[in-house]
Amino acid sequence: MTPRVWETRTRAVPSLPSLISSQFPGFPMAVKIEHQCLRQGEGGLVENAIIGKNSLMPDDIKPYEVLVRVAAVALNPTDHKSPSFCPTPGAIMGVDFAGVIVHRGSDVRRELTEGSRVCGAVHGSNPANPGKGSFAEYVAADSRLLLKPPVDWTDTQAAALGGSGWFSAGLFLYESLKLDGKPSSPTTKRADGTKTPILVYGAATATGTMICQILSLSGYAPVGVCSSSSADMVLSYGAIATIDYVAPNAAETIKSQTGGQLRHAIDCISSQESMRCCMAAMGRAGGKYVASEHTMEEWRTRRGVKVLPLQLAYETFGNGVELPGLYHREPSPAKHQLTMDMADEVQKLLDRGLIRSHPPKALPPGFQSIIGGLKMLKAGEVRGQKLVVCLDSGLTNQS
Ligand SMILES: NC(=O)c1ccc[n+]([C@@H]2O[C@H](COP(=O)([O-])OP(=O)(O)OC[C@H]3O[C@@H](n4cnc5c(N)ncnc54)[C@H](OP(=O)(O)O)[C@@H]3O)[C@@H](O)[C@H]2O)c1
Repeated sequence: MTPRVWETRTRAVPSLPSLISSQFPGFPMAVKIEHQCLRQGEGGLVENAIIGKNSLMPDDIKPYEVLVRVAAVALNPTDHKSPSFCPTPGAIMGVDFAGVIVHRGSDVRRELTEGSRVCGAVHGSNPANPGKGSFAEYVAADSRLLLKPPVDWTDTQAAALGGSGWFSAGLFLYESLKLDGKPSSPTTKRADGTKTPILVYGAATATGTMICQILSLSGYAPVGVCSSSSADMVLSYGAIATIDYVAPNAAETIKSQTGGQLRHAIDCISSQESMRCCMAAMGRAGGKYVASEHTMEEWRTRRGVKVLPLQLAYETFGNGVELPGLYHREPSPAKHQLTMDMADEVQKLLDRGLIRSHPPKALPPGFQSIIGGLKMLKAGEVRGQKLVVCLDSGLTNQS
């Protein structure tokens, strides 16, 4: 990809002031806003999701938050997994979004103004805050974790970038594996002049392509495990090599190709087979393994490979995660800070044209389409693409 310098300026949205004042006299935030949203239904099941109304009050916007008119949303496995794990009927669903700022809190950094196009993520389907989710016409979001997409990106591209992918990449690479190389200060090569290999199992997942990009830009050599049909895509996101997960002796091939020097694995599939492969691919000295989902103690095949605790992208908001059992987390200001630092890293990459979203696939616009897309995700029908649904193309005319 050729580095390009984008002009980072506020995108003009000429229709916005009239749109806002016609719909909400007294805006910004002098009045209650009634808007449409997608809420969890009975049992948290996607099939029961309800398109309904929500009210936003002026004091719902915290000083560091901005109110975003949502233009498009991207769909993630967590959008159907989290509600079925912890049903919260009535909670607004949705994590990733792109849109336009219509109101800013009193303590928001200056470069985010009314009319700025942004993308990011919120903790949707949250039992502790059921009134917040991105599958809505408006969402209040932590301004410190938002990005400004390049001016020539469509809303679909911006929503596909969202936040959850790079939030997770930050946690896995820097909180779990404690890697020292970052895009702004890449790691140095090894004594023999080669780059440190890092295994990305499930490299064709949306999380995997983001991790491959950040690793590559941070001076590492990502080795991707994916299907043969996704290999070209994964290589285009920065992997130096790929291997098919159905290949016989995949782990042994990785081990020999990396000279027995592999010390780090990131597993975006988190199955017994993926864990076995990651562990078997590492050299005799062992190493560190981090998975994107919960793995079982009995799947561990090597004591010399340290299995790091599961990170949750929901932790990045700094509020803790009030889910039961395995997914409960206390608030972590450190993970929030790490993600704010990550936002600076990713913004610089965006401004230079060095990072992109997982390949987006736009579904028909509207809330009903979100329900259809989540059913596709749940059925495992989505491969190598990020499903995106446009909710308001009238804002930027960039669907
Ligand atoms: N802890 C967290 O906070 C966090 C954050 C983000 C995601 N996650 C979890 O991470 C996982 C991935 O999420 P995602 O949204 O990135 O996934 P995704 O984009 O929906 O993943 C789809 C891809 O998975 C690959 N795949 C399917 N079965 C595979 C297998 N057996 N081995 C290797 N690859 C396989 C397919 O690629 P091929 O073409 O290669 O088959 C397919 O393109 C999910 O379980 C999600 O819940 C957790």
